[in-house]
Amino acid sequence: MAFTMYALQVLAYVFVGVVGLVVLAAAVLYVIDRSQTKDAILRNYPVIGRFRHLFSTLGEFFRQYFFAMDREELPFNRAQRVWVERASHGKGNTLAFGSTRNLGVPGTPIFMNAAFPPLDDQFSTTEPLEIGPTARQPYLAPSIFNISGMSYGAISKPAVQALSRGAKAAGVWMNTGEGGVSPYHLEGGCDIVFQIGTAKYGVRDSEGNLSDDKLREVAAHDQVRMFEIKLSQGAKPGKGGILPGAKITPEIAAIRGIQPGQDSISPNRHREVDSFSDLLDLIAHIRDVTGKPVGFKACIGSADPFVELFDLIKTRGPDSAPDFITVDGGEGGTGAAPMPLMDLVGLPLREALVRMVDLRDRYGLHDRIRIIASGKLVNPGDVAWALCAGADFITSARGFMFSLGCIQALKCDRNTCPSGVTTHNPRFQKGLVVHEKDKRVAAYAKGIIKEVETIAHSVGVSEPRKMGRRHVRIVQDDARSIQMNELYPSYPTNGAKA
Ligand SMILES: Cc1cc2nc3c(=O)[nH]c(=O)nc-3n(C[C@H](O)[C@H](O)[C@H](O)COP(=O)(O)O)c2cc1C
Repeated sequence: MAFTMYALQVLAYVFVGVVGLVVLAAAVLYVIDRSQTKDAILRNYPVIGRFRHLFSTLGEFFRQYFFAMDREELPFNRAQRVWVERASHGKGNTLAFGSTRNLGVPGTPIFMNAAFPPLDDQFSTTEPLEIGPTARQPYLAPSIFNISGMSYGAISKPAVQALSRGAKAAGVWMNTGEGGVSPYHLEGGCDIVFQIGTAKYGVRDSEGNLSDDKLREVAAHDQVRMFEIKLSQGAKPGKGGILPGAKITPEIAAIRGIQPGQDSISPNRHREVDSFSDLLDLIAHIRDVTGKPVGFKACIGSADPFVELFDLIKTRGPDSAPDFITVDGGEGGTGAAPMPLMDLVGLPLREALVRMVDLRDRYGLHDRIRIIASGKLVNPGDVAWALCAGADFITSARGFMFSLGCIQALKCDRNTCPSGVTTHNPRFQKGLVVHEKDKRVAAYAKGIIKEVETIAHSVGVSEPRKMGRRHVRIVQDDARSIQMNELYPSYPTNGAKA
């Protein structure tokens, strides 16, 4: 009895002590908040004003779980992310009851199913397509869907490793991004597109100029199938970048050809290219030195300036043409970019792609220049739309990030990515287990291709590249849909598309 009384007494003292401490802390915070001059809310609502910041921060994390509807979030909503997640796990992507998609939203593609689709035994899988017929080593690219450029630096070592192995297993290519080719890109044995950014990382001399010796070294890897000159990317057109010295480890410095520990600036364009004539000269030079197909990547503000490029190709002859053009939509992703460029500069892919395809076809270069499309094409419907619009290949960056386990925490510009995809912190990288995630990368790529083939069969053609603008309708502002070939009539292209 005496012991119980004693215990109760101690508990009461502890309680009073805790309450006292809380009251004291609140009083101190009250005085601090009231007397500070920087934050109006805290000055007017001392102590409780602090909860506003806490809840805004927590809201960022909890919204996607509890509050956001399936089709609501940006840049990618839950329905899009869950599709990738299920495909990556090799789970069937069948749903019950009916679609949750609002089909009245302007821009929604509606594929036109055939009255009599081909029978199961009349389907064929996607054929490989040749890129760069005039290069010494043209590339017979096996897959319509491939991995877009993300540098080793922007993404982590295990992310690059899992992508490389997954790409090999699925038979898709992997673009290095502008950070050069690392042993981690090569280790899986996949086909590689080497990107030449404005700082020429991986193929530069000590002054930062393009080095032919380095180009030959890179081209000597059989896995490197093509070279892509990066003019711009959708998330930051017209902007270069700065790689802070702190992120330049001796390994990254060696891969990129720069000094460790010192800031490295990539200019906002290639210094030696300020006209389409210069661009064609550079393409010809790299193709000559490496013997491999060469193209360029750009986010376009309008197709009009590119008329000059096609006029020049007409004058110089089709051999002078780029072997491919990658059209990156203004909605494209990045490791880091200023918000106005990300939000407001560069045509979205829905407008840019048809313009570039039409320009190419108008100049009769359909079979000479391949068009690669990127920009939020992460689900089968997006990829099928791009094929209908005229793309020959589709690439995705963020779709593959989701397959690696990205949860859209929007922290790629810090070193704190919780899924280990864009961080160099070993603590977070531990979560990204290469021999698990490589399977997800492969399953995602295969899942996309399989379901794009399903759409193709439903519209009545035997394989995806046979889809054209006549197979899809686009929902307009008044919720009625118009056939895409009426909105954007195609140019004749040897009868391949109509
Ligand atoms: C983390 C990250 C890094 C990227 N790095 C590069 C790069 O080095 N070079 C480049 O041309 N594009 C880069 N991009 C852009 C992508 O290659 C792609 O063009 C764009 O994100 C559109 O594809 P998506 O919508 O499927 O992500 C990067 C994108 C992300 C998300």
